[in-house]
Formats: sequence, structure tokens, C-alpha cells
Amino acid sequence: MNFLTSRRRHPLARPLMLVLALFLVGVGYMAVAPAGKSSAETEVARQVTHGEELFTVNCASCHGLNAEGTSQGPSLVGVGSASVDFQVSTGRMPMAKPAQQAPRKPTKFSDEEIAALAAYVGSLGPGVAVPEPEQYDTAGLTEEEVAEGGEIFRTNCSACHNYAGLGGALPDGRYAPPLTDVEPRHIYEALRVGPQQMPVFSQENLSDKEVRMIIAYLKDIDAQPNRGGMDLGGNGPVGEGLWAWILGVGGLMVIAGWIASKGARAK
Ligand code: HEC
Ligand code: HEC
Repeated sequence: MNFLTSRRRHPLARPLMLVLALFLVGVGYMAVAPAGKSSAETEVARQVTHGEELFTVNCASCHGLNAEGTSQGPSLVGVGSASVDFQVSTGRMPMAKPAQQAPRKPTKFSDEEIAALAAYVGSLGPGVAVPEPEQYDTAGLTEEEVAEGGEIFRTNCSACHNYAGLGGALPDGRYAPPLTDVEPRHIYEALRVGPQQMPVFSQENLSDKEVRMIIAYLKDIDAQPNRGGMDLGGNGPVGEGLWAWILGVGGLMVIAGWIASKGARAK
């Protein structure tokens, strides 16, 4: 029996109908309103505003109130969110005081604050965006591909960062840092952004897959107990340079001796 159509209506039928009708209108409205899109937009706007506030307090003194740059720091318009994520997550920014190169150190910001700063600077102009996890995830690479990553590393990176990723000195008191225990995301960002003297490696130079292979290679040598370059004691460029010198000069002396003795015999 349908109690709504029955003659003997329950005394509560009318109020119940009303509540039901209101409920249906509510559900209908929620279904029609573009809830997902507008709330995502609000979320981004809120993040950018938060980022701008953090920027004013922590960064504007050097980079300018609108990130337009000052004599103390470069303009950040168009550097992209990836550059901010890299600089702030690795503790390089905010710089303590104007200096030639900012060292890597623990960051003073939470992940959420870094994301807000990155979103704010990213909103100022087009630039390299913070990568998606699949762009730096090394899962699924074969051993050959990891070895290939090592080849790419030796060709493109070892001149500055040393064969075993131990870092090295550059002219003018600058340095390429050791690449031990750098997070995959930050390796990806460093390549695409090219901080300081480091060249930018764009998608045309190195595909995302090749970058993933380099990351896998670096993580592979991270996991090895002895990181020595060619096993020369693992002391880095100085030790290796010394060996090159001893072997090189020693070799020259042997050759000189050999030529001298040949010359003596020819007389
Ligand atoms: C004491 C001055 C100073 C402060 C404070 C400072 N910076 Fe910097 N920043 C610099 C200088 C100088 C450079 C350029 C040298 C370098 O890259 O190491 C730089 C470079 C950068 C770059 C790299 C730009 C590029 O071309 O890719 C980013 C991004 C950046 N800063 C973001 C920030 C953010 C975000 C903050 C605040 C959390 C901040 N900085 C605070 C001085 C400063
Ligand atoms: C011309 C020298 C040069 C070359 C070539 C170079 N780099 Fe760098 N790299 C640097 C310098 C200098 C820095 C430090 C920048 C700074 O302090 O702001 C750096 C920083 C980095 C960082 C950040 C490390 C950290 O401490 O957070 C990574 C990762 C990195 N390089 C990876 C690479 C890889 C991979 C390659 C090759 C595809 C490469 N670099 C090629 C000079 C170089």
C-alpha cells in the first residue's frame, strides 16, 4: 500500500514530503553546480595568495616586492615553479646574505609552504613547472638502462660533478656540489632549471626517460658502500689528480729515458 496516495494519510505525510522535496532540490543543485572546477580554482588562488605572503616576508628584500629583482637578487618572473621548489627545498633559498653561491642546507619551510611559494612565482610567468612523480620515478628501468644512465652522466655531468658524483671545484671559488643523497625530484629540477653555472638540460637535450636513467644511476652509486671514482681511494678529484700526475709524469720519464737510451745507441 502506498501511504501517500491512500485516503487515510498519516499525519506526518505532508511535512515528510516537504523535507524530501527540499532534499531533492539540494542534491539536484549539487549535481548541476560545477563544484569540482570552482573549488580547484579557489584552492590554487588561495595557494598563490599564501605564497605571495610568504614571499613578501622572506624573499622580497632581495628579489623585490613583485619578484621583479633588485641589486641583491635576480628577477624571478618566468623562472617557473620548478626553480623555486629546487632552491627552497634544498635550503639554498632564502639566502642568508648576498653571496656568490648559496649552499645546500635543511629547508626552513614546510612542503605546503614551498608549494605555495612555487605556485606564486609560477603564476608570474611561464616557466618550467614542478615535475609529476612519473617524470623522475626510476621504477621499471632495466639494469642496462641504469648503466646507460651512467654513460650519459659521464658524458654530460662528470666534468663538473666528478665521475663518481662527488662534486668538484669551479673557477672563482664556486663549486659543483656532490650529488650524494639528492632527492630524485631535485635532480630532475636541477637539470631542467640549470642553477648557477650548471647548463640547462632541456627535453631536447635529454628526454624524461634519459633523466630517469641518470637518476637511477646516481641512486645506484648512492647505495654502494664505496663510492670511489675508479677506486683510487675514493678521495675525489684531488686524489685522482695526484694519481694522474704520478702516472702521467712517471710515464713521461720512462718514455724520456727510453728515447735517451735509443738516441745514445744510434750515435
Ligand atoms: C639575501 C638575498 C636573497 C634572499 C633573501 C632570497 N634570495 Fe633567492 N636569490 C638570491 C641571489 C643572489 C640569487 C642568484 C644566485 C643563485 O642562484 O645562487 C637567487 C636566486 C634565486 C632563484 C633562482 C633563480 C633562477 O634563475 O632560477 C630562485 C628561484 C630564488 N632565488 C627564490 C627565492 C625565494 C623563493 C626566496 C624566499 C624564500 C629567496 N629566493 C630569498 C638572493 C636572495
Ligand atoms: C658546468 C658545470 C656543470 C655541469 C656540466 C653539470 N652541473 Fe650540476 N651543478 C653545477 C653547479 C655549479 C651546481 C650548484 C648550483 C647552486 O649551488 O646553485 C649544480 C647543482 C646540481 C644539482 C643539485 C645538487 C644539490 O646539492 O641539491 C644536481 C642534482 C646536479 N647539479 C646534477 C647534474 C647532472 C645530473 C648533470 C649532467 C646531466 C649536471 N649536473 C651537469 C654545475 C654543473
